Amino acid sequence: MQRLQDATELKFWAEDRPVPREVLLKEAADCVGVLSMLTERIDAEFLDACPQLRVVSNHAVGFDNVDVAACTERGILAGNTPDVLTETTADLAFTLILATARRVHEMVDYVKQDKWRTWGPLDNLGVDVHHATLGIMGMGRIGYAVAKRAKGFDMELIYHDSTRSVIAEEKLGVKFVSREELLNHSDFITLHVPLTPETRHSVGKAEFEQMKASAILINTSRGPVVDQAALLEALKSGQIRGAGLDVTDPEPMRADNPLLALPQVTILPHIGSATLNTRTKMADVAARNLVNGLLGEEMVSCLNPQARGIGRNKS
Ligand code: GLV
Ligand code: GLV
Repeated sequence: MQRLQDATELKFWAEDRPVPREVLLKEAADCVGVLSMLTERIDAEFLDACPQLRVVSNHAVGFDNVDVAACTERGILAGNTPDVLTETTADLAFTLILATARRVHEMVDYVKQDKWRTWGPLDNLGVDVHHATLGIMGMGRIGYAVAKRAKGFDMELIYHDSTRSVIAEEKLGVKFVSREELLNHSDFITLHVPLTPETRHSVGKAEFEQMKASAILINTSRGPVVDQAALLEALKSGQIRGAGLDVTDPEPMRADNPLLALPQVTILPHIGSATLNTRTKMADVAARNLVNGLLGEEMVSCLNPQARGIGRNKS
């Protein structure tokens, strides 16, 4: 906030709910820059409603809410906040792996509901994480950071991506496999792909059919990567064992969602990057992206440097 206040004439939405679309369109109409959350749709309609706009800075690494091509066409720079949240998000993915495997939220409730009566040798069993096979869909920065953690648990590591990661293969011994092989062999499948038209619902009925009955699905990427109706069916029919989700479709998820009635499902409210340390760094990157972009200086992370020199960013 300080960085923005020092450099700009700042308007901001201070309520703890997303800014309504019509308010955003009206208030941003005369702005040269916008700092957006992933709750704001930055699309052609929005960009056309803001004829002065030169920089969009998204306070997130994911940018499926920003139409980058539409920004580029209009000569508007777009920024995001990679790197600073990688390790924090990987911590949360691993939290979900452990919590789902050992039924943590269910067991906490068990104690709170006064169901704890004895220590029975076959009571409250979960599954082992150590030495299990972890399938990583998407070996980008966060996928790699999850693989590092999994190595310490002696997990078998396999991954699939559209491009090979020589670093992951050489440094961590992660094995590249086909999509089918990953689905067939993993005890845990963790998703680290961006949401694009290609990845939307890329884990659906056909994929659940290929998974082991003991498989646990972990999603810390974007909710719509998973076909949630198909996930519900796969869990109810016992096609897979469980799921740990930090992202849902839609968000926020309401408490009456049928997934929440299933004990083998752990759902968190999109908190992958939610530590004060990391959120502070993200805010700093987002503010610097905005200010630097407006001043014609190098942005910390720019999604479309080619927008400089087009239209509004010509000079
Ligand atoms: C959060 O989901 C992000 O993309 O940073
Ligand atoms: C369990 O607490 C054990 O001692 O095995």
